[in-house]
Amino acid sequence: MAGKETNNIMDKLVSLSKRRGFIFQSSEIYGGINSCYDYGPLGIEMKKNIKELWWKAMVYERDDIEGVDASILMHPRVWEASGHVEGFTDPLVDCKKCKNRFRSDLLEDTSKCPRCGGELTEPRNFNLMFKTFMGPVEEDAAVVYLRPETAQGIYVNFHNVREAARKKLPFGIAQIGKAFRNEITPGNFTFRTREFEQMEMQFFVHPSEDEKWFDYWMEERLKWYQRLGIRKEKLSFHEHGPDELAHYAKKAFDIQYEFPFGWQEIEGIHNRTDFDLNRHQEYSKKDLRYFDDVKKERFIPYIIETSIGCDRTLLTTLVDAYEEEAERVVLHLVPAVAPIKAAVFPLVKRDGMPEMGHKIADDLRGTYRIFYDEAGSVGRRYRRQDEAGTPFCITIDSDSLQHNDVTVRDRDTMNQVRIGTDQLKSYLAEKLSV
Ligand code: GAP
Repeated sequence: MAGKETNNIMDKLVSLSKRRGFIFQSSEIYGGINSCYDYGPLGIEMKKNIKELWWKAMVYERDDIEGVDASILMHPRVWEASGHVEGFTDPLVDCKKCKNRFRSDLLEDTSKCPRCGGELTEPRNFNLMFKTFMGPVEEDAAVVYLRPETAQGIYVNFHNVREAARKKLPFGIAQIGKAFRNEITPGNFTFRTREFEQMEMQFFVHPSEDEKWFDYWMEERLKWYQRLGIRKEKLSFHEHGPDELAHYAKKAFDIQYEFPFGWQEIEGIHNRTDFDLNRHQEYSKKDLRYFDDVKKERFIPYIIETSIGCDRTLLTTLVDAYEEEAERVVLHLVPAVAPIKAAVFPLVKRDGMPEMGHKIADDLRGTYRIFYDEAGSVGRRYRRQDEAGTPFCITIDSDSLQHNDVTVRDRDTMNQVRIGTDQLKSYLAEKLSV
């Protein structure tokens, strides 16, 4: 797709996100802070829905995965053991003329600056971890890091969770939480930011079963995107070549999505082998082996990781759902992801319609996130909800008061059906359960 058109779609999405309250620039009144974003009333609902869909699939629907919520700040030795202090770096080059910085591994031509054509410095490795100090003294001994992945909080709790939940191999531990990376080139809205949320699951297996479970999780994770309503043809797998593999991975596949700015990773599935637990065993001097009491075998389990960014997933669902039609802009979000499930509109602000509308809205609240609106033309109210991705609009007109019924308008087809108010809940329950 042409660069101009690409920017156009992303620009429109950024503007819609602000206008409708999905995503705002952080600290906007101060001119904003680069690559940090705030979620507004609709964005936070959507984010919560995505996390719930993930947690449901990974924890509630299974009996072999438990959850944790580890702290963001961890013992500094964790990051030495994990290899992040030494190896979590990107190659950075500076332009000597315009002073812009770039990741040299992402440049097509490393001989000159892509912005001004100026001379570039030699690449140097830049560690992506944010450093801060614990306690009142700013000295080397007090350095701690904001975690760059949630995974390590799971590894250090492997035996805590296993013992507390009385788990046997194979089993997994899931976690949703913030991660921080001092990215050199953040960008494409929330695609690459310096603060983001991850949804990670670490599956502990016998070393002889790593391939089997890797294949299993590739398939499971790809299936999950159907629940988000993402178009199948926009998803693909990309296998990491030897030069792409992270320091901990023996094998890795990305699930990619075709964004307006190209095919990009949205999730990583990694065979981390026994690398992490081995290293933590070495650095902590604690025995992290698992004992199989049937086979009387003691070993360090292998780990198959599925790692997805919540913010990136939200962006993916927005991009995938966005459509410009002749007379409207619409987000075709699946009901499970849509921030508002139904909007209630009295046609006019008189003749008992607002009272009936409030009653219907109050009745549905608690079960669904409902929006009530009685201002302006009904056409404009529909358009606003189309942009917010609201699957159904319920309208009360003069007949409603006589017959105790309403019209329900479907966002995607724009068809309207008349439903008795006593049938409304079951009608919505059926439609919204998909
Ligand atoms: N624990 C393994 C790990 O963190 P990763 O491939 O570096 O693997 C996994 O990251 C996922 O986290 C990515 O697929 C992406 O969805 C999300 N992610 C990573 N860096 C990000 C960033 N700077 N901004 C937003 N999301 C990011």
